[in-house]
Amino acid sequence: MTQLPGLLDTEAIRKDFPILDRLVHDDRKLVYLDNAATSQKPRQVLDALSEYYERYNANVHRGVHVLAEEATALYEGARDKVAEFINAPSRDEVIFTKNASESLNLVANMLGWADEPYRVDHETEIVITEMEHHSNIVPWQLLAQRTGAKLKWFGLTDDGRLDLSNIDEVITEKTKIVSFVLVSNILGTLNPVEAIVRRAQEVGALVCIDASQAAPHMPLDVQALQADFVAFTGHKMCGPTGIGVLWGRQELLEDLPPFLGGGEMIETVSMHSSTYAPAPHKFEAGTPPVAQAVGLGAAIDYLNSIGMDKILAHEHALTEYAVRRLAEVPDLRIIGPTTAEDRGAAISFTLGDIHPHDVGQVLDEQGIAVRVGHHCARPVCLRYGIPATTRASFYLYSTPAEIDALVDGLEHVRNFFG
Ligand code: ALA
Repeated sequence: MTQLPGLLDTEAIRKDFPILDRLVHDDRKLVYLDNAATSQKPRQVLDALSEYYERYNANVHRGVHVLAEEATALYEGARDKVAEFINAPSRDEVIFTKNASESLNLVANMLGWADEPYRVDHETEIVITEMEHHSNIVPWQLLAQRTGAKLKWFGLTDDGRLDLSNIDEVITEKTKIVSFVLVSNILGTLNPVEAIVRRAQEVGALVCIDASQAAPHMPLDVQALQADFVAFTGHKMCGPTGIGVLWGRQELLEDLPPFLGGGEMIETVSMHSSTYAPAPHKFEAGTPPVAQAVGLGAAIDYLNSIGMDKILAHEHALTEYAVRRLAEVPDLRIIGPTTAEDRGAAISFTLGDIHPHDVGQVLDEQGIAVRVGHHCARPVCLRYGIPATTRASFYLYSTPAEIDALVDGLEHVRNFFG
């Protein structure tokens, strides 16, 4: 078995993930390399979910009965865990949403309905990048269409990094918000936050960071990032689907208007007008995803029990190994950084002129799960003149043997297509 420095004890960790023992296509051992799409869930999270429904299920913040109080304590306890996990100065800065897309849409809509000094209008500019997931493009396009604001973006270098050479022309005195991804879901690139934040602060623009592909894989400190908003999702970090997070700076959450109206988010309502509850509840209309938040709390406990530094080191070792092994495959072109430096553990590639959907299908027949397509980041494919990529992405339970299986599988793909 290949041993690499920095690897976790995957033999022990994999015992926590029942699904990893599955066979697919009758007798194929599952090789799950689609972690950037969603991670698998450890027994600890599955147990927390069923325990919640078996013992505590009730609506939160409303009832005086025991179950309602216990469910509320669990839900709010999950908020405490998230706040600590991201080093938020206050638990009230943590808003639960259904996913990172909703978190990013929430920011765009808070600004869309805001008065001065946050108001976005035809005289203002919004800045994103060409490597964003669609969920950090479309909400800003919608906002620009509605307000007349101008949407601008940073382009990409040939090696899959942000081209910041014209940063002073892209981020200007007119910029109200700069929203960018910390780690690209398609290229794997880890972006230089400091340079972008510095320029945004110079012109007084707000900064929003999409940390969906970072929060599961590395220590995340919202204070160190110096952003105004940070969005991520639970299901990529061992939590259930249906739970996302938006962290926002307290003064902003106090000043900015809500987007969704309904129960839970109000202070008083009359037939003429309403006043709102303080943040975070102002932004959590309706019955929230209680069980999902509890599951996310259990996922955070699980990740903390392993250690985010150790998870980062594990994935770095795997990524180094993967780029080295993939370089041995003839005709394989990595789309994105080709070394393990400043990148995450999602690696996109093309294989000669074999269509990625064919690559994915032949890999699947061997039990190897990867994602193929434009990965909800179609502008990246357009930029590099390719229809799609095949993407392998690793997590704390991934092993060098699985990377070997991928490389063997790709050899099989090449033989299959002659
Ligand atoms: N955003 C997820 C991915 O990159 C779904 O696969």
